[in-house]
Amino acid sequence: MKIFKTKTDLITYVDKLKSEKKTLGFVPTMGALHQGHASLITQGLLQNDFVVVSIFVNPTQFDNKEDLVKYPRTLDSDVDLLKTVSEEKIIVYAPSVDDIYGEHVESISFSYDGLEHEMEGRFREGHFDGVGTIVKRLFEIVRPDKAYFGEKDFQQLMIIKKLVEKNNIPVTIIGCKIHRAKDGLAMSSRNMRLKPEYREAAPFIYKTLKTAKEKFGTKSANKVTEWVTKQFATHDLLELEYFIIADVETLKTVKRKSNQKSYRAFIAVYADDIRLIDNIALN
Ligand code: PAJ
Repeated sequence: MKIFKTKTDLITYVDKLKSEKKTLGFVPTMGALHQGHASLITQGLLQNDFVVVSIFVNPTQFDNKEDLVKYPRTLDSDVDLLKTVSEEKIIVYAPSVDDIYGEHVESISFSYDGLEHEMEGRFREGHFDGVGTIVKRLFEIVRPDKAYFGEKDFQQLMIIKKLVEKNNIPVTIIGCKIHRAKDGLAMSSRNMRLKPEYREAAPFIYKTLKTAKEKFGTKSANKVTEWVTKQFATHDLLELEYFIIADVETLKTVKRKSNQKSYRAFIAVYADDIRLIDNIALN
């Protein structure tokens, strides 16, 4: 497996592949890889000759310093997992902060036509500027034909589509389904930090989302939101940060349902000091 630590080396290799007319998929990650990441890579391998996987814990997208410090960094086991997916067709790019940012570890400010002010944007200041900065930078280095993002971070997926459209970046963005553990918990690099009792409690999040979906068939968005809030108010271990039913195009909280629109429910929950997010399509 090819593993590059610097953009210079990766760029040279990508130049060679492009001169051979190979197609390139791209899966940007922050490492601590799990089967959710693997599902994006597998999809990428079906549609491209090679898939570049970047592994980089991006400092500019963390609004919480402690979260950045505690974010798992497990390059060796990440590479082991990638080898089980494909030895030959995966190219790893695992740069240092210096290779990406040089001396100025700061983000550019982006407008995503308002998408950045909803949900995660409201609760994690500057987060999507950091995400836009790193993903744009990585697109410039990797120059993929297609790039794969999980619906697990649905708002991020929408924001990346907007970033690409507004900046005329020549890449096709492909959204991939949420990969879940057997008990329904959406896979996440943060799950490995959950203490056993919290890990055991966490599937309650998806279970509640599924019931919310059922209720949305007959009840208003407000009523469903009230119901979800109540479920968490009495929960011993999980603390609700937000539950929102939103229009999938604008990500704005729905006031009145329309048959012409698609909706999704979005949730953020604290399990101890670990923040978990999930979402579900409602119609
Ligand atoms: P990270 O959290 O490592 O996720 C990398 C990609 O994997 C994202 O597109 C995310 O949505 C997807 N993913 C994570 N868990 C998933 C799951 N259970 N099912 C399906 N897809 C899943 O998202 C980031 O990193 C960063 O913000 C990044 C885009 C790399 C920029 O730094």
